Amino acid sequence: MLGNFVYSNPTKLYFGDNSLNYLNEELPKYGNNVLLVYGGGSIKKNGLYDEVIAILKANGKTIFEDYGVMPNPTVAKLYEGCERLRACNADLILAVGGGSVVDYAKALSVSAYSEEDPWQKYYIEFKEPDNKIVPVGCILTMVGTGSEMNGGAVITNPESGLKIGHVFGDNVFPKFSILNPKYTYTVPMYQMVAGIFDTMSHILEQYFSGDDDNTSDYIMEGLMRSLIHSAKIAVKDPYNYEARSNIMWTATWALNTLVAKGKSTDWEVHMIGQAIGAVTNATHGMTLSAISLAYYKLIMPYGLDKFVKFAKNVFLIQDLATKEETALAGLAALEAWMKEIGVVMNISELGVTKDMFADIIKATFINTTGYKTLTKEDIYAILEASL
Ligand code: NZQ
Ligand code: ZN
Repeated sequence: MLGNFVYSNPTKLYFGDNSLNYLNEELPKYGNNVLLVYGGGSIKKNGLYDEVIAILKANGKTIFEDYGVMPNPTVAKLYEGCERLRACNADLILAVGGGSVVDYAKALSVSAYSEEDPWQKYYIEFKEPDNKIVPVGCILTMVGTGSEMNGGAVITNPESGLKIGHVFGDNVFPKFSILNPKYTYTVPMYQMVAGIFDTMSHILEQYFSGDDDNTSDYIMEGLMRSLIHSAKIAVKDPYNYEARSNIMWTATWALNTLVAKGKSTDWEVHMIGQAIGAVTNATHGMTLSAISLAYYKLIMPYGLDKFVKFAKNVFLIQDLATKEETALAGLAALEAWMKEIGVVMNISELGVTKDMFADIIKATFINTTGYKTLTKEDIYAILEASL
């Protein structure tokens, strides 16, 4: 049964290979000063930077820049960005990049005018913004996080060994997002595959929780089937527009809040993955792929019927002799797909060694909404099985 919920998503999407033209429709809605936020330079290499600058100039904007946003953006970068944003008095933050850039832009939007320390306020105390929020617009270049249509903003604090996501309300969602699948063509294969698995993980996290019959699960089964199919094509043929556009659209719907409505969700793989990310700075999607099978095998007995449903409805596996066998066949099919697309299958490949387990366990938040509430020993066992 679906529980009660409120649904609204204020982000306006422009999708397709002509979508950048719509920036001309959005820019007049905001004041003169635009802070252009981007990462380590991929947008300069592929020409997108020049295109965006030309449109900003044609619209008479005064352009300020904040670049060098690193994958897994840090709190030190956030502090630096706050000063820059205040100094230029931006009316719009235009984020051009992947999840790290878009997350950072959202964190910046709520932090620059905060009187309290933003790390403490948003990431330790999980308070909501009570100060001026600068609007964010997004031009997405890397697919996976869903940051283009949600309120998530993950920030890493290397000093305290924590990587924490705050999911802000819809007043912090990007006001608009421009999604051109062609901008993702230049994403390196490793990052593309990491993004595909991140998307898969977002769906699994919301699917493997609860035992009711609800529309959201059926939507997710469809999204997973599309993703599995398109990913196989994209790894062989990265310039396949059909596959890349389907992956982009699936990633957005996987985490724009819709499929979580009216049902419980888990998110424990992300909790462990973020802890691994805090300790190693590894690529987000790969921190998830490296531990997912061990995690799902551990919780499978506690949510067996859903695992059977997954095997039958996502991988089209026929009933085997027992429910356990059918469920395990589903996980085996997931594993085969992961190997086929080439995700990282163990944490040692990410630089994790046993002496890091204690720090990872310490940094892992334990959720109570999955099929099993993990103990510290469970997390140790998952890490050990994932080495
Ligand atoms: O910095 P540049 O030079 O742009 O290079 C980036 C970066 O090195 C590169 N890249 C992006 N687009 C490219 C490209 N290279 C060539 N051509 C392009 N078109 O890819 C690298 C990775 O980019 P990044 O933005 O870090 O990847 P992703 O989109 O996976 O974002 C990861 C961050 O998002 C957070 C993660 O924790 C991590 O910090 N997440 C955000 C979520 C949310 N907002 O809801 C949820 C997720 O679960 C996730 O936690
Ligand atoms: Zn993720």
